[in-house]
Formats: sequence, C-alpha cells, structure tokens
Amino acid sequence: MVAADDRDTRADVPEVEVSEAQIAVHWREEPYYYPSAKFIAQANAGDPAILERFSEQNFPECFRVYADLLSWDAYWHTTLDTSNPPFWKWFVGGRLNACYNCVDRHLAASANKAAFIWVPEPENEPTLALTYQELYRRVNEFAALLRDFAGVKTGDRVTLHLPMVPELPIAMLACARLGAIHSQVFAGFSGAACGDRIADAESKVLITMDGYYRAGDLLDHKVKADEAVARAAQQGCTVEKVLVFRRHAGQYASKSPMVDGRDFFVDDILPQFRNKLVAPVSMPAESTLFLMYTSGTTGRPKGCQHSTGGYLSYVAGTSKYYLDIHPEDTYWCFADIGWITGHSYIVYGPLALGTTSVMYEGTPTYPDAGRPWRIAERLGVNIFHTSPTTIRMLRKVGPDEPAKYNYHFKLMTTVGEPIEPDVWRWYYDVIGKGEAVITDTWWQTETGGFLGCQLPALAPMKPGSCGPGVLGVFPVIYDENGEVVPPGSGRAGNMCIRNPWPGVFQGIWKQPERFVQTYYAKYCRNPESKDWRDWPYFSGDGAVQAADGYFRILGRVDDVINVAGHRLGTKELESATLTVPEIAEAAAVPVMDELRGRAVEMYVTLKPGVAASTEITEKVTKAIETEIGKIARPKSIWIVSDLPKTRSAKIMRRILAGISNFTDVGDTTTLANPEVVEEIRRAVQKAK
Ligand code: WTA
Repeated sequence: MVAADDRDTRADVPEVEVSEAQIAVHWREEPYYYPSAKFIAQANAGDPAILERFSEQNFPECFRVYADLLSWDAYWHTTLDTSNPPFWKWFVGGRLNACYNCVDRHLAASANKAAFIWVPEPENEPTLALTYQELYRRVNEFAALLRDFAGVKTGDRVTLHLPMVPELPIAMLACARLGAIHSQVFAGFSGAACGDRIADAESKVLITMDGYYRAGDLLDHKVKADEAVARAAQQGCTVEKVLVFRRHAGQYASKSPMVDGRDFFVDDILPQFRNKLVAPVSMPAESTLFLMYTSGTTGRPKGCQHSTGGYLSYVAGTSKYYLDIHPEDTYWCFADIGWITGHSYIVYGPLALGTTSVMYEGTPTYPDAGRPWRIAERLGVNIFHTSPTTIRMLRKVGPDEPAKYNYHFKLMTTVGEPIEPDVWRWYYDVIGKGEAVITDTWWQTETGGFLGCQLPALAPMKPGSCGPGVLGVFPVIYDENGEVVPPGSGRAGNMCIRNPWPGVFQGIWKQPERFVQTYYAKYCRNPESKDWRDWPYFSGDGAVQAADGYFRILGRVDDVINVAGHRLGTKELESATLTVPEIAEAAAVPVMDELRGRAVEMYVTLKPGVAASTEITEKVTKAIETEIGKIARPKSIWIVSDLPKTRSAKIMRRILAGISNFTDVGDTTTLANPEVVEEIRRAVQKAK
C-alpha cells in the first residue's frame, strides 16, 4: 500500500490477489446474429479479399492500406522498424501533419460540410454546425494564439482540461498543427488529478473553461484550474499561462478570480489573431501527437504516448472499416473526448476521413431519456457509438423511448467494458430496431484503436463477444506460464497480442522501464531478440476464446477496476483514502454492479483511539473526489477492525472481494488473522 505522499514509482508488475476477471459471471455460448443484405451491399469492407490482404504473411506491409488513407509530406522508407524492441517504430522516414490531415485537406471538396454538429445542453441554446471551413479558421487562430501569445513551440506539452465543447477539438488540432503534444485531462477529473498530470508532462500552459452544463447545472470548472496549478507547483512545475475559454463569450461563469499575468480569457485575446493562418508543421511519423494518462498498478498515472503517423493511420483505417463511415454518414460517438475513445473515434479517426460528427454537452438522460433519440432523429444520425453503462442506464430509465422516435441506425458500437448478452439484445432490438449491425470493439488507451472486433459485413455478431482480432492484429490467450490456451478449451487466460500494430503506444512518458515491464516483460521470450515474434503485448485483460475464434473479455487481471468504462487504479483509490488523517489502512475491491458493470468498495481501518462514524466515511468519499474525481466515488465504505493479511502483512483484497460479491473467499489458512474474515463477512453481508 502507498501513502499519498509516497507515490510508488516501481515498475508495475501485475501481482494481484483479486481481479475483475475473477469476479466475472460465467456466460453460456450465444447464437450468432447476421448483418442485413442492405448493410453488406454498402459496407466499406464488403469484399472478403481484404482478409487476405491483412493476413499474417502480408504483415507489416498490409498497414500501407491504412497509411494510404492519409496525405503525407514525405513517404516513409521503412514500414516497421523493430531495431529497439519493444519500442516499435512505424512508417519511419515519413512526414505529415495530423491537423492538416484532419482539416486542411478536406477544404477543397468539403469546405461547407459540417465537421461537428454540437448540441449544447440547454435546449434554448442553438445547435452549432461547425463546417470544415469554420474549423480551419478557428484552429488557425487558436494555433496562432498558442504560438505567438502563449509561447508554445513544437514538442512542448500543453495540458487541456476541457469539457465537451467545440473548443476541445479545436485546441487539440491547434496543438497538432504546431507539432505540440496535447494532454487532455477528462473534465470530470479533479483539479488535483489534473495537477499531477500537468507536473508529469511538465506543461507550461493549461487550457480550460470557466464552466459547462451537466444535468441542469452550470458547473464551475475554472476553480479546478487553480487547484491544478497549485498542485503542479508543489511538484516543481510552474504553469505560466492559463488560457480560459468562456462558455458564454464575455460572461464569466466561475467564482474563481483571474490571476493577473497568469490567467487570460481566450475571447479577449483571440481578436488579435483574427483570420491569421499558421502553416502546419511537417512532423516525423514517429513524433508524439499526444499523451493520454491512464491508471495502472501503481499510484502514479501513466502518460501513454501516441505517435503521429502510426496512430493517425490506424484510427483512420479502423474508422473506415469497423465504424463503416462513408462521406455521407452522420456519426455520433457518445464518449467524452477526455478519454481515448473520444480522441480516436470523435476527433482523429472521423476527421481524417472528413466525417460529419455529432458532439453533445450534458448527459444522455437529462432532461429525459428521450434526448439521444430526439437528437438522432433531428440530425439524421445513422452511426451510433456508445458504452454498455450508457446502454444499461438508458434501458433502465427509458426502455420504450427509442420506439417513439424516427431515426435509423445502420451501425452501432459498444466499447469500454464487457456487455452482458441481455443488454446487448436490448441494444440490438430496441435501440437498433433490429436493423443495425453491432460492433463490440475491445481495445485500450494504450492500443490507440480497436484490437478485437468482427468486420461488420463479413462476420456475424455474437452477443457478449468482441469477435476475432481486427485486420492485421493477431491476439492470443496465454496462461501464466506462457502456454497458449487453445480456442474452445473453455479456459480463461491473459489476452495478449502477438504482433505490433501502427496504433500501439510508443511508451509511457518518462517511464520507459515501466512500459517494458508492464506490457512486454511478462511474455517476452528473449530480451535480446529483435524479432517482434518474441515480444507479445500483454493487455492486462482476462479472456476466453470460443472454438470459432471469437474472444470474450472478462475484465482486468491487474489492480485496475473498470467502473462504467473508466479505469481506476486500486492504489490511486487507496492513496486518496489514506489522505484522511483518521484512516490507518485501506483496500479497494471491485464489485459487480447492475448499472456500471463494476463498482468500487473500500475497506478501511482506523487509527487507534478513533471511533467509527459517518463523518469518517464522508471524509473518505470527499478525499477520493478531491484526489481523483466524482467518477471514482466508492459504492460503499466499510470500516472494519482489521483487514485480512498474510503473515508478511500483505492485505488480501481477494478475500474482501469475495465478501463484497457474496462469492467464495478462497483459502484463508495462510492469513495471519483468519478470525477477521468471519467478522467482516457478518458485518458487511448483513448490511447489504
Ligand atoms: C475494457 C477504452 C470488454 C478492458 C477503449 C480494457 C472492454 C479497458 C472493451 C481499457 C470491450 C474496453 N469489451 N471490455 N469491448 N473495451 N474494455 O483504456 O478491460 O479506458 O483493458 O480504453 O476497458 O479501458 P480504456
């Protein structure tokens, strides 16, 4: 366990006694569902010849098909460079600019086409159609401001803490135009969490907004910027400029004072840069496009580095073939851009293809559960992308709502967590009206884009399974000893990928050893080898593979809990809990949750002489909200007299998870204090 001020910087070698995968329910095999002839006839990947093009013998050259979707300033000479495993390099020698590929090159044919249609939460505010021309103008102006006012240079890191407003993709693209590395922190994360990420990335500039709407409230967001800057300063990182967008131009929605010389309203400065153009900086394919922080096994978050050429090719290619985006489609991905799904499948993939995307502020169920379907009907959305938690929530609060609206989806996606077959069927029958193909896309922050998914026109769907590996990606399940767990064996194991792919992250920012240890050391066959075949990627997920080759993801096998598709590290939760002075020890465990898939329960002990009280549990909740954000709020906090421990004083979370989930607690004979197990069980299970 780590104290808050004693962040664990060891490489995170997965070593867990309880994992999400272990608490997963057992599913039976499900029958196939088939795409309609109408869908197949129009699909981007309708010809089975594509499978041959991406076969293992054509690896890695097959990925030219994806790279050729982009406009390169200089073509690459080496498709895959494996000289420094596992730091793979793709399209070496190539040069390009991501912003140019997402904006400028569409102007000739599609200047007046909407890139984004943005739906604000208040229903009296107008929907905004941001054309490619308008996006071009706004990105250029903001890039000029970043460069000439904020001093941002190629290679600098810029932290963004923006909600779901058009300014977010504009700021990302402006950074990309300059060759600066953006690091967007999910707006729901606390100021402290944002500050830790600023300090790790050593950003000198923070871009934020005064406030935004969520479920009827105008939230004060700028206050978090002050906390973030203070937190970064404690870690020796000085933020020189805070650029504050205003949700309503000219009106300030925050109580936080503007700090003289540090904080600036963007709408005050932008007029100086009106119509200013900034030439896109031609970047090497391997230059880092952005950082995306995610949780791992230690308290310190991991800044996953994504490349410009490989990443952009990969998200463009997978958007084309797995989301089946055509120029005339209207696409709506429900994710927040603050997560990898939004980066890859709201911003970079769809824009690289010149897509019209819907973006919205607020939540799907406010003011009522009909909101998504009203928007889909009004804007003619035909591709819909969301998560199991959203589907479960919409089913619960408005099971009959979709039928009231006249929209038609050709394709729907689910991402981020395992989907229960019953929920899948409701998605298919009720939201998809039995017409839409579903792609269940399995992937991760680290992987840049989809890894497991069936090609929508060429393979049937199976509820609860993400399908086989995607084009050019060859997954395998290994057991703990590195032996292949064969398809159809019914045995679970660790989901791994045998080969590199262009979207794979380049490393963890400033933690190269942790990168190698966490993802490659476990199954590396020979650390001296330069052959990618000796370096399988370990995903940290448990899975089973059916006889037909389809994978079913069970959940994490490491110290990560996936709550509503948001990754939380048990160590981060425990560190936050330990900031409460009365708490002596803490353990976070996953529990099954009807709505969010998994939820977190905290077990804590108190320091000697401290009496249990609701004030203490409230303090724990508050501490977690302050350190991480409201999304990490535990479902229950159990104050107990002692935690089950081994003789070497290691807390046995597995036993606590067994109690929380009413499942077998397993062997307790190796415990130093076996008597506490019954005591905790009685107290907790009685209270549930
Ligand atoms: C889980 C989100 C089952 C998995 C894109 C993974 C899934 C983690 C699926 C990554 C899916 C993602 N089915 N589980 N289709 N997609 N996961 O980094 O446990 O936020 O390791 O990336 O979500 O979460 P992350």
